[in-house]
Amino acid sequence: MTLDAVLSRIDSDLPHATERLMELLRIPSISTDPAFAGHCQTAADWLVADLQSIGVDVEKRDTPGHPMVVGHVAGDGPHLLFYGHYDVQPVDPLDLWDRDPFDPQVEDTPAGKVIRGRGSSDDKGQLMTFVEACRAWKAEHGTLPCRITFFFEGEEESGSPSLVPFMQENAAELKSDLALICDTGLFESRVPAIVTMLRGLLGEEITITAPDKDLHSGMYGGVSMNPIRVLTRILASLHDDQGRVTVPGFYDGVPELPDDIRSQWQGLAFDHARFLSDVGLSEPAGEKDRTPIEMIWSRPTCDVNGIWGGYTGAGFKTVLPSQAHAKVSFRLVGDQDPHTIRDNFRQMVTDALPSDCTVDFTGHGAGRASVTETTDPVFEAARRALTDEWNIPAAYIGCGGSIPIAGHFQNILGTTPMLIGFGRDDDQIHSPNEKYNMESFHKGIRSWARILDALT
Ligand code: BES
Ligand code: ZN
Repeated sequence: MTLDAVLSRIDSDLPHATERLMELLRIPSISTDPAFAGHCQTAADWLVADLQSIGVDVEKRDTPGHPMVVGHVAGDGPHLLFYGHYDVQPVDPLDLWDRDPFDPQVEDTPAGKVIRGRGSSDDKGQLMTFVEACRAWKAEHGTLPCRITFFFEGEEESGSPSLVPFMQENAAELKSDLALICDTGLFESRVPAIVTMLRGLLGEEITITAPDKDLHSGMYGGVSMNPIRVLTRILASLHDDQGRVTVPGFYDGVPELPDDIRSQWQGLAFDHARFLSDVGLSEPAGEKDRTPIEMIWSRPTCDVNGIWGGYTGAGFKTVLPSQAHAKVSFRLVGDQDPHTIRDNFRQMVTDALPSDCTVDFTGHGAGRASVTETTDPVFEAARRALTDEWNIPAAYIGCGGSIPIAGHFQNILGTTPMLIGFGRDDDQIHSPNEKYNMESFHKGIRSWARILDALT
């Protein structure tokens, strides 16, 4: 069987595939920090060269931000597109890493071998699973199985500012029968899964100013308005004692879970206690009447991601600060409209300001939730292929994270997205000591080979 030959080649080539991934991981392509823009170019160049080595007609395409990498292989049958992102999150706090984030290495752990380094799981390791599957396929067959477009982005971790214009300008070229997106994980770190629901995301940064300069709290404390007190009072008022978000109109457009999805999720028998205990917790902190899996996959949330102001250095300083700052994000579901929520949030904060305070807002991205129907037979075909590889029935699941491009494929190109990934919950994406299990990488590559076989 030819699929067997491709799978055997993947097995025997795994050490080389790992080396190639390590090369890509050595490039510090942090998209959010302008100081690393040159490295984003280098990562894009690396991908162009690597795709050329498997016969892809590919180029680096400039945008106002970091470049896209777009490549094509002609062929018969369905036109598949594969998407991944080559940019990574910043590494700080650097002192919490056990090694240089951009000097990756394979480590033996009690759970097996892992590839340690920034981007190993999110998303360079995942992106390379598909490229390596294509490499093995090409080596066995001389060609790829169908028409394939490769579409790699370098701004995903910084809100994809160039993505929508690029997709609009290149819609005819990118439109395809199915967009495969590898940026998600296994269910409970072991069950292969196709993600059908993603949450949207809205980011807001707020700065509250009270006195026009920093003051001595011995001279002005008590008399002067303290913007940190104002900010923390407002932030504390964003949730009620039932864990619900208090922004006016926030729940407009939030659907109740349909019964069929609810019972399908119940069938997954998610281990809530373990999910929490794995990160040192014991009690769900969200809405009181919801299960944790519902909270993560199908309920909207509000979180404070950062807060600062006053003196935070070593020692102590009795400053009464002029300004206080916070970054707040909302995960959105259903038909929640990020722009309405932004307006209502800003109004709520403004209305809560006492005299002598002013507030400035900066928006950081606003994307809606997305849901994919699984009625097209390609979904069952991919699910069977995953089941064959992992020897566990593959599941349709939700995802609490946000991958805005899934909605853009639907809305801009009319292309159905299919989200499959092999990350684990403990990969520490966005955190120190990020890793990707060798099993995720190896079986991920094999999974794509099986999916290519099943879809063509
Ligand atoms: N790969 C993640 C999305 C993800 C998160 C998948 C958790 C599975 C589990 C993606 O790179 C990401 O981090 N997205 C950001 C949003 C983006 C617009 C900055 C997120 O979800 O916070
Ligand atoms: Zn990602």
